[in-house]
Amino acid sequence: MNMVKYLFSIFFILNFFCLHAQKFEELAQTPPMGWNSWNKFKCDVSETLIRETADAMVASGMRDAGYQYIVIDDCWQIDRDKNGKIVPDPERFPSGIKALADYIHSKGLKFGIYSCAGTLTCEKRPGSHGKELMDAKTYADWGVDYLKYDWCFTDGLKAQEAYTTMSKAIKKAGRPMVFSICEWGLSEPWTWAKNVGHLWRTTYDIRDWYDGEIDGNFLGWSKILDKQVGLEKYSGPGHWNDPDMLEVGNGRQTNTEYIAHFSFWALLNAPLMAGNDLRSMDRETIKILTNKEVIAVNQDKLGKQGYKIHDDGDKELWLKELDNGDYSIILFNRSSENQHISAHWEMINPQFTSSTFMVRDLWEHEDLGEFKFGFTALVPSHGVKMIRITPKDKNKLVVD
Ligand code: GAL
Repeated sequence: MNMVKYLFSIFFILNFFCLHAQKFEELAQTPPMGWNSWNKFKCDVSETLIRETADAMVASGMRDAGYQYIVIDDCWQIDRDKNGKIVPDPERFPSGIKALADYIHSKGLKFGIYSCAGTLTCEKRPGSHGKELMDAKTYADWGVDYLKYDWCFTDGLKAQEAYTTMSKAIKKAGRPMVFSICEWGLSEPWTWAKNVGHLWRTTYDIRDWYDGEIDGNFLGWSKILDKQVGLEKYSGPGHWNDPDMLEVGNGRQTNTEYIAHFSFWALLNAPLMAGNDLRSMDRETIKILTNKEVIAVNQDKLGKQGYKIHDDGDKELWLKELDNGDYSIILFNRSSENQHISAHWEMINPQFTSSTFMVRDLWEHEDLGEFKFGFTALVPSHGVKMIRITPKDKNKLVVD
């Protein structure tokens, strides 16, 4: 064997062991970031779309900003063969799923797939009920790194049991996979799923709206936001509340609303799963999805979810504590007029009343200076001001 071949073999062997050395329990130490086909494409998925999306994730700078997982949602599967093994749609995925996973890995990205705890998926494709171990092994063989697991056609099943069955199957299959629980919050998975999966949906499906709700089944992001209040204590490294995937760039909201949506998902430690067409993004959409200062709030290693600290109807303040002692604050204007909103430092902690913080604007990427007592900004209708604040003098934070 010549030297180059020898070095390549060593590289691949090390790579293999590094990948497999990471245990289920060690995954998703920060909220997963990636893309999922559902919000934009529904059942119109194919290997061409997925490959082009991986290419676009790299070319747009999203991979460099931290996005990793490319997840095909429902409708990739069509049948089971005579041995019960799941069969991908041969017209839409003629090269097979393994080849697609290899392609995505070759781009330095990770690959995810979708199934359902019921007999059928929500789009009536074969579900995994009774075939959990066989499916988990198939996914492991294909090189799957992430499984989103839905909750349709589950009559008579108990969520905790059904998700535990698949969680054990994944562990047995031996390939580390992020396990995304999608049962819409019905059984309050935040109370039981910490050691079963890495994230759990907290509500029914998001729609590309600022506001609005249809029958409680489809919700605009600000409606979903309201349902996150009180869930913050259940989230942390390796186990995240999932308020559903992003709608940024899907066209039915203003950029102001998309900036607010992305800011809140970052502050809530939500998985940042883009749900738009990455192949045809305008510059503003790329700017929103790749804002590194906002992403840093989401990926902060303390893993403490943000929460609401003030609400007077139209004006809200939300706070997230960060690992280095900084805070991130969102000033949110729900009204239809632009409004001034104030954050008083005593709202963070009564002892901070007359403290001084340095304020940085995370969307303008600008240091705004030192502020004693608090900070006020003009916030656009349906928009936010998102800041990061650093105590001027940590030793003098409490009294002045
Ligand atoms: C829903 C789920 C969506 C999507 C869809 C696929 O139950 O909440 O995110 O996965 O099923 O059919």
